Amino acid sequence: MFVVVGVTGGIAAYKTVSLVRDLIRGGHEVHVIPTEGALRFVGLPTWEAISRNPVTTSLHDDVPQVRHVALGQHADLVIIAPATANTLAKMAAGIADDLLGTTLLATVAPVVVAPAMHSEMWRHPATVANIETLRARGVRVIGPEDGALTGGDSGPGRMSEPESIVRFALEVAAPLRQDLAGLRIAVTAGGTREPIDPVRFLGNRSSGRQGLAVALAAADRGADVHLIAAHLDADVRATASADPRIRVTDVGTATELQSATTDAATHADVVVMAAAVADYRVAAVSERKLTKESGDGTRTLELVENPDIVAGLVAERRPGQTIVGFAAETATGDELLARAARKRERKGVDLLAVNEVGWDRGFETTDNTLLLLTRDAHGDAHDDAQPASVTGTKREVADALWDAVLRLR
Ligand code: CTP
Repeated sequence: MFVVVGVTGGIAAYKTVSLVRDLIRGGHEVHVIPTEGALRFVGLPTWEAISRNPVTTSLHDDVPQVRHVALGQHADLVIIAPATANTLAKMAAGIADDLLGTTLLATVAPVVVAPAMHSEMWRHPATVANIETLRARGVRVIGPEDGALTGGDSGPGRMSEPESIVRFALEVAAPLRQDLAGLRIAVTAGGTREPIDPVRFLGNRSSGRQGLAVALAAADRGADVHLIAAHLDADVRATASADPRIRVTDVGTATELQSATTDAATHADVVVMAAAVADYRVAAVSERKLTKESGDGTRTLELVENPDIVAGLVAERRPGQTIVGFAAETATGDELLARAARKRERKGVDLLAVNEVGWDRGFETTDNTLLLLTRDAHGDAHDDAQPASVTGTKREVADALWDAVLRLR
């Protein structure tokens, strides 16, 4: 998509750098138009480097290319983030004294604004009226959120998170098909933690980002989504709770995850086990913090195996229910395929999404590659065939996963 990102003069402009980066990663062509005010916060070279396109603010650059209208005419989507009170006022009045102003008048593309300003300015009757005018003209508004503002104030006025703005704007530009409407979906995400004593645990590096992407993709496509969250990274957890379409249940240990998931599965049409479950828990959790006193330099923890949650779900499967497993594997090539095929068979899941991981791969990243191993419509394994491989943002691979689930159903 050809996306124009207008940046206006607010401190939140620094966050728009990651908004532009997310769009580029999503494969979009991005042209940034900062106002003069925006450049006081983030400089022109940053916008050029991040968008990979020339950037100008003036009406009088690039005149032969009729740049003052060309970007607006080409745009499939225009995002203004942050949108200051001043810019909203100019937009409402149709003022075109800079490149962003002319672009906005020249475009018929959907326009999304993400306001950011102090609460008093947001509540001012002038701003309220301008927002009403813009809404009436079809401009879509995201935020502002309630939260900490510059200078120690807090209240409504904070720009929405870049990730939410991108999701909202792309949805406005190309409404997603509602092909999961009517389906109840349970997704587990994150990683369980098994306590050793009151302050320590056995855990893993899962952030919950891929599981959240699966949940958000399902919600966007119309599903009723229940997310069972095991120790998500703070920003991932915050994104989940900010989304009114997603019901979240927090769990800690594998045992808690098992009981929440088994409960959720009794109503679910599809269960996706994206959570990294600890294979073992500590046999006897110490009530008091373990100390090194009177130790001999080594410590042995006795571990007992946790139940295989997904295998349990498969055994108790409701008629017509689809069960999806995830597997994080450090093997590569043929060994990876063989291991994954055995795992899909052993777990009895309809679809196994396999993730190659390593010290520097698979975790805390936005991009991912998944291999999708499915059974065919007759319940026969397809594992000897070459499985589908999808690469992209975690959101893109999540959508590919839902496409594969729909094909199975
Ligand atoms: N899983 C589960 N319960 C467990 C362990 C894993 O439900 N006790 C689920 C995971 O959520 C995932 C799938 O099983 O969807 C595969 O997880 P993985 O850790 O790769 O499988 P393991 O059974 O632990 O296999 P192994 O340790 O032999 O690789």
